Amino acid sequence: MLKTRIAVLVSGGGTNLQALIDAEHSGQLKSGKIMLVISNNADAAALTRAYNNGIPQEIVLKSKCGSQENFEAKIIEHLKRYEIDLIVLAGFMSILSKDFTSQYPERIINVHPSLIPSFCGKGFYGIKVHEAALNYGVKVTGATVHFVNEIPDGGEIILQKAVNICKSDTPESLQQRVMRIAEWKILPKAVEMVSKDISADKEKNKNGHI
Ligand code: GAR
Repeated sequence: MLKTRIAVLVSGGGTNLQALIDAEHSGQLKSGKIMLVISNNADAAALTRAYNNGIPQEIVLKSKCGSQENFEAKIIEHLKRYEIDLIVLAGFMSILSKDFTSQYPERIINVHPSLIPSFCGKGFYGIKVHEAALNYGVKVTGATVHFVNEIPDGGEIILQKAVNICKSDTPESLQQRVMRIAEWKILPKAVEMVSKDISADKEKNKNGHI
């Protein structure tokens, strides 16, 4: 079988990257292989996780690229060099432009720490999402894995999982529980689902990389 060649884009801790690595090792992720990790932060702990697992890594800093256009061009250069089929945004804290996303329709996946369409879009990322959920007073939150298009957090939903909020929750405790119960479960599952479809297409027309 021709495996789906996956790039994971990260900015921070990389626990979702780790969930994908673990899924590959356990065989849950069997239709795809993580070929590359790209970070927009040179200090991201996710890079250590990539290194420890022998996954090639590239660092692309927006500050060094000068513009969003050059930043995205550099990322695309790496994606092409590694013949990447599927891009997974796993805690990647930079919004990609329409120019970028339109080049990869249904080939970019994102994990977001709420039940979209709640607490999502521009300005909602990382711990801010959980602060917003607690401030609003919702009793249930969760995580969403979706395809990425030009609307931030607006692409087609692939999987969602709900998580109950406890009275004693802080943003940090909620973030940890949403990751453990929802994100680390549905991200590998969704990546396998999409990888399986891409691999089947690759088998059909043996030259298929993006
Ligand atoms: C995760 O909770 C992820 O859902 C969130 O950032 C965290 C990254 O953690 N992403 C967003 O908020 C994107 N809008 P990680 O680096 O440990 O995977």
